[in-house]
Formats: sequence, structure tokens, C-alpha cells
Amino acid sequence: MRKRLRLLALLSLAALATAQTLRDLAAERGIRIGAAVDPSHLNESQYDYTLSREFNQLTAENAMKFEAIHPGIRTYSFNDVDALVTYGEKNQMAVRGHTLVWQNQNPAWLTEGTFTPAERSAILEDHIRTVVGRYAGRVYAWDVVNEAFLDDGKLRSTLWSDAPGIGLTGTGYIEQAFRWARSADPRALLFYNDYNAEGSGAKSDAIFHMVEDFKKRGVPIDGVGLQMHWSTSPSTLASIEANIRRLTDLGVQVQITELDVRVPIDAAGNATAESLATQAQIYRDMVGVCLKFAGCTAIQTWGFTDKYSWIPPVFPGTGAALPWDAAYNAKPAYNAIATALRQSPPVITAAGLANAASYASRAVAPGEIIVLFGPTYGPAALAVSTPGADGKLPTKLSDTRLLFDGMAAPLIYTVLGQVSAIVPFAVAGHTTAQVEYEYRDIRSTPVTVNVTPTMPGIFTLDSSGRGAAAVLDASYRVISNSNPAARGDTVLVFATGAGVTDPAGADGALSLTAPFGKPVAAVSVQIGGEDCTVTYAAGAYGLVAGALQVNVEVSSKVRSGDQPLVLRIGNEYSQSVATIRVK
Ligand code: G3I
Repeated sequence: MRKRLRLLALLSLAALATAQTLRDLAAERGIRIGAAVDPSHLNESQYDYTLSREFNQLTAENAMKFEAIHPGIRTYSFNDVDALVTYGEKNQMAVRGHTLVWQNQNPAWLTEGTFTPAERSAILEDHIRTVVGRYAGRVYAWDVVNEAFLDDGKLRSTLWSDAPGIGLTGTGYIEQAFRWARSADPRALLFYNDYNAEGSGAKSDAIFHMVEDFKKRGVPIDGVGLQMHWSTSPSTLASIEANIRRLTDLGVQVQITELDVRVPIDAAGNATAESLATQAQIYRDMVGVCLKFAGCTAIQTWGFTDKYSWIPPVFPGTGAALPWDAAYNAKPAYNAIATALRQSPPVITAAGLANAASYASRAVAPGEIIVLFGPTYGPAALAVSTPGADGKLPTKLSDTRLLFDGMAAPLIYTVLGQVSAIVPFAVAGHTTAQVEYEYRDIRSTPVTVNVTPTMPGIFTLDSSGRGAAAVLDASYRVISNSNPAARGDTVLVFATGAGVTDPAGADGALSLTAPFGKPVAAVSVQIGGEDCTVTYAAGAYGLVAGALQVNVEVSSKVRSGDQPLVLRIGNEYSQSVATIRVK
């Protein structure tokens, strides 16, 4: 009995250890998961507990709006926002600012006062500089302008736009607001935020064209917020995906900023199980569509518990729009978000795959040590591999795998956004390879990369791919400014990308016993443009198969100073920007 209890206790501990919160899952996705928050609820224990446990981002539902933060012409009221920002910092939550320029929730002194455009401009500039400036470095992103377009794509007429506004026509006032915000905090990401503009339509077209124009002219905009206040009939996923694609292709981020899904409710506020299932699927779809893009960087819900939501008074007969019910029980929508975070495929690009020494990314060679930059799903903490019982580097590390034509590559390290591996030798002879990245058994769609027999890259001392190469003298001391190579000396250059060797390299094996694999392709070296004699080119003792050591005699013709060091293997050359210091 006691044994069984102990086992149960152990099992439940194990369950606890593996239960991942939304913020844990989001951390493995490199995105933020946020909620709109009312600071007056922060001292409610269940509110505080759920918010801080599940989210790594927050924003003020109302507290940062003009009427709340700037209630008198010369009066600012920061207490609520200070509390919110401090709460975020205490709980390692990023803070999103909402919003600086809007037609709603402006104070009466502003809406009812009579101001010339110049005065109105001065008021807005002061507002933006004061608010953004106060939270500079603490609020990482701002909805600078909110809801400036009508559904037909025309600009809304507001106290800020040209009626008479701040004296600028068209999107001029929006541009000006972004410029003021940038100068108030150059580090903050600046967003334009709107609703009914998630998919296709006149409004999303108008926003797209504005962002395109801003990017072309260097107006400082970093992102577009898609609010996503849905009923049970959202825009089609295809149209949302196309819109996110065209926006991120402009080089701006997209964030889902105000997600909620209202459903019919009865007088007691309850929704049917069927509605909640439909709602869950919509949450899952929205998280999934965001995760298709490296440029979609946050998902934020507008509130998180049905206890507090703007929906029921505004859309009577509907509500229950959030992932937790009014008693803080997780709803099907919560599990749907978690499932989408866990199961949506990671995204990789062929351009992200590079030689680990030179960062050349035009092709891969058998046995080349590579880095894949940018996978959108991976371990939050860096893991570095060590050889297993078979003496080889593992092909799975922290639940990560990298496959070339279905063959798992030995891994060197992995962390979200970066994995280093050795291209399996058996890709030799292929002209292309299908590369797939896998995390927690979820695979990316494959990308095609070119395969070439060799792809030499020289390791550099600061791992930048340029400047001083990783070269040792005959006594294994690093060649440097204080220990330059002398003409006639033999130096040891470290590289990768030599291709197939003889004897053949075994994937992931360390070079410990001679004979070490010699590249089948011819190896030659130039220093400062002068041919130098190669005395040895083969695996390096203690390093993994695929790492190459080249011993080379510095020719008597080489001049003094930092000289380009270039390795040719077969028909390919190493980077032209690696150097060696010569006496
Ligand atoms: O501050 C007064 C308070 O003094 C008064 O006692 C109380 C009584 O009704 O009203 C309070 O003001 C309310 C305010 O929220 C603060 O709680 C307003 O009536 C109410 O209309 C206002 O609603 C907010 C709404 O924006 C106003 O436009 C919602 O909470 C807020 O969720 C909503 O958020 C917007 C985003 O900012 C932009 N996108 C759409 C989204 C939903 O409408």
C-alpha cells in the first residue's frame, strides 16, 4: 500500500513536472502569449494566479488609454499603469502599450475643448512623448494608432485626423504619431492596430497599402496588430493567412492583439457545450495560423476570464468569449490554444541553413557542420550534445531532430531558433536534399537545399565567419596579433565542408584513432594570394567526423600583416574574409 502511494505520489509529481502552461509552450515557440488586464483585479488571487502562471505578456485593457492616463490638460495619472508595468516585471511578463491615438476613450477636456490644429498637434506630441517616454525600456511595444480606418477602407474622421485634426491630411497624422513615438523610445516596437482587418477586404487592403507606403518612405512602423474579436463565424483561415503573409513579407511583425470569440449565452451567462467546442476550434485555428509565420510574434486575448469581459454589455445575449470561465476553470478554448502551441508544425527556411564556420548558405556538403537558423519551435534552454555510449553524437537532443532526406543528422547543440548539426555523409551524390526539422515529434514541412560535393568554411576565432581564423601554431598556440605566424612555419587551420573522406566518415563519430578521414577532393590553400604547401588535410583528433584540420606551410612570398586565408576543396572556396596574422 505504502509502495503504491509512493508510486502515485511520484507519478503525480511527474505529471506536474510535464504540465506545461501556455507561457511555457509559448516560450518554446519564441512568441508571447498575452492578455488584456484591468489593474483593479490584480489583488484578486485567482486572477493574479491564472494571469501570472499562464501568460508572459500583458497589456492594459483601458488604463493606458488617453482618458485614463491623461485626465486633465496638464495632468497625467500613472498609478494604475505603474502598477501594471511593475506587475509585469515581477512576473517576467512583457508589457504591450495600448493605445496612444484613438477616437474613443478620450477625456472631455480634449473632445469638448476648442483647439487649433497646431494646439491639437502639440497636445498629441506631448501625450506621446510623455507616456512613451515614461515607460521607455519597460513597454516593449505600443499600439501607436488604433482603428484609424473604416470598414470600406476610408480613413475615419476623428479629432486627430483631418477634421481638422492636427493639421495633416490623409495618413499624415498616423505617420506623425509613429515618428513621435519612435523618438520617445527608439527601442519600442511600434504597431498599427485594428479590427475587421484580419482577412481580405477593403480595410485590410487600406492598412496593407499604408504599411507598404510607410516602409517605402522609412516611416518607423514595426508591426500590425490584428484584433480578432470573433463571433462564431470568423474570416476564412485562408484569407487571414494571406493577409499575414503579405504583411510579414513587408518586413513588419504581426501580432494577434485582442483575441476573443463570443458565443450565445443564456440568462445565467452559460454557453452550450457545442458552442464552446466551436469556439475552441476557432482559438486553435487562430493560434495555428499565427504559428505558420516567424513574423507573427504574439497572441493576446482580450481579458482571459469570462468573469471580466467587454462582450456581454456590448453584444447582449452573447459572451463566454475567453479561455477561462467566470470561476477560472479552463475551458475547451484553453486546451485548444495549448494544443495548437504544442502541435502546430515548426517553420524553417532553406536560407536559414548555413555552414557553421563561414555561414555560406548556398548548398550543403556531406559531413559539413551546419547551423540552421530560425526554426520556430524548440527548447527554451540551450542543450549541447555529448557522445553517447556508442561514442557518437546523438541524433536527438532535447527533443530536437534534423533530417536530410529522412536521415537524422548528428546534433551539436540546439536551442529555440538555432540548431547545429553535421550533414549525414550519405547525402553524397544527391543534387538536393529535403531538410526537415522536428521538435517534440512535430515535423516542419520539408525545404529543399542544394547538395554539393564540398562546401569549405574556415572557423574563425570569434565565430563570426570573418576576421582572424581559428589557426594554431605547431605548439598548439593560437595565431593572433601577439603570436603571428612566421613565413616558413607550419600552421594548423580548422575548417569543415570537405565532403566525403577516405576512410569514410561515420556520422557523429569522433576522430580518435588513426587513420583519420582524408578528403577525397583536392585540398589547397592560399595565404595573401600565395599558394602554400599543404602537409596534412584530414580529420582533427578529438573532433567530430566532418571537422577538418589542414596543416599548411606559410609561403616565403606571403607579406606581413593580416592576410586573407582561403581554402579550396574540390571546386569550392571558403569565405574570402577569414584572415591570418603574419609576422
Ligand atoms: O471608467 C468608467 C467608470 O468610471 C464607470 O463607473 C463605468 C460604468 O460603466 O464605466 C467606465 O468606463 C468604461 C470603460 O470601459 C472602463 O472600464 C466604459 O463604460 C466602457 O465602455 C469601456 O469599455 C471599453 C471599450 O474598449 C471602450 O471603447 C472596454 O472595457 C474595452 O475592453 C474596450 O477595448 C477595445 C480596445 O481598446 C480596442 N479594440 C476594441 C476593444 C473592444 O471594444
